[in-house]
Amino acid sequence: MSETLTIPRPDDWHLHLRDGAVLQAVLPETARHFARAIIMPNLVPPVITGADAAAYRDRILAALPSDMSFEPLMTLYLTENTDPSDVAAAQASGLIKAVKLYPAGATTNSASGVRDFDKVRGVLEKMAEIGLPLCVHGEVTDAEIDIFDREAVFIDRVLDPLRRATPGLRVVMEHITTRDGVDYVKAHDEALGATITTHHLVINRNHILVGGIRPHYYCLPVAKREEHRLALRAAATSGDKRFFLGTDSAPHTDPNKESACGCAGCFTATNTLSILAEVFEQEGALDHLSGFVSEHGPAFYGLPVNADTLTLTKGAAVPYPDKIDTDDGPVTLFDPQMPLHWRVS
Ligand code: NCD
Ligand code: ZN
Repeated sequence: MSETLTIPRPDDWHLHLRDGAVLQAVLPETARHFARAIIMPNLVPPVITGADAAAYRDRILAALPSDMSFEPLMTLYLTENTDPSDVAAAQASGLIKAVKLYPAGATTNSASGVRDFDKVRGVLEKMAEIGLPLCVHGEVTDAEIDIFDREAVFIDRVLDPLRRATPGLRVVMEHITTRDGVDYVKAHDEALGATITTHHLVINRNHILVGGIRPHYYCLPVAKREEHRLALRAAATSGDKRFFLGTDSAPHTDPNKESACGCAGCFTATNTLSILAEVFEQEGALDHLSGFVSEHGPAFYGLPVNADTLTLTKGAAVPYPDKIDTDDGPVTLFDPQMPLHWRVS
């Protein structure tokens, strides 16, 4: 007899879909399993205004195969010139569900991000007033801060002062990678949430560097020591409503990853749910999988849990492709280095 697990259809609270040929190829990989996703705005040029977000949303829906349903939850890329009234109008029309803060230079396509936080004060105050969440890429960019310390330093130097200065602002710490991130979330109330990626539950920094450099495990924030991975696994599988799935599935074509200066990002859309079921089973927490992938995110964003369901069935190892083909070149799928027994049906 096979074991099955039926949960409300999941959502992905942090996703990169890109544009053009890559969008066309990767969108079905997410839409096959997920009902909705928070769509990251770090295109070139970025999605800055409500008009940009509306146009990008149209391109996503045009790329969606006709036999699939999927709702892109749009975000705006916060710049020092963002207009609070444009943000408020985009929320009021139902177009956007969050604004994304990238410290300038922190990650892929973040050059237009924020350098001087005083310049975005008006936008943040407006967001607190209208209840629009801020999604934060939580890494400092100072050259003298070690890359493995950048999240912890960001919490102390930027995030905590920013939250204190903007009472009522709802914040998502995106893709947390450290025990420090877990502890900071746990020490605060439910106006603060955090997404955790699939890959940060599986790899630590050794996976990137031991026995040869593995470009497909390189992402930002970079995976940390094992103790941090274990803290993330404990948080994700705990049932605590403040932690929810944001895959940060971030496709880059192989030539851009396998290069002298490779891009950051792990592409996990295709096998994420099989990996998560395996991880939650390993932790003896399959009963908390639904909370993490289907319930806590909607609760944070004030949206209904999806009415339809998804069933995972345990059996022989599920095969996944090594790569997804796009008209811009192949995109390698994240390899969890373990057999995956849970098939999505
Ligand atoms: C993301 C990307 O490629 O756009 N890369 C990544 O390593 N996660 C950007 C991001 O979310 O930091
Ligand atoms: Zn991301």
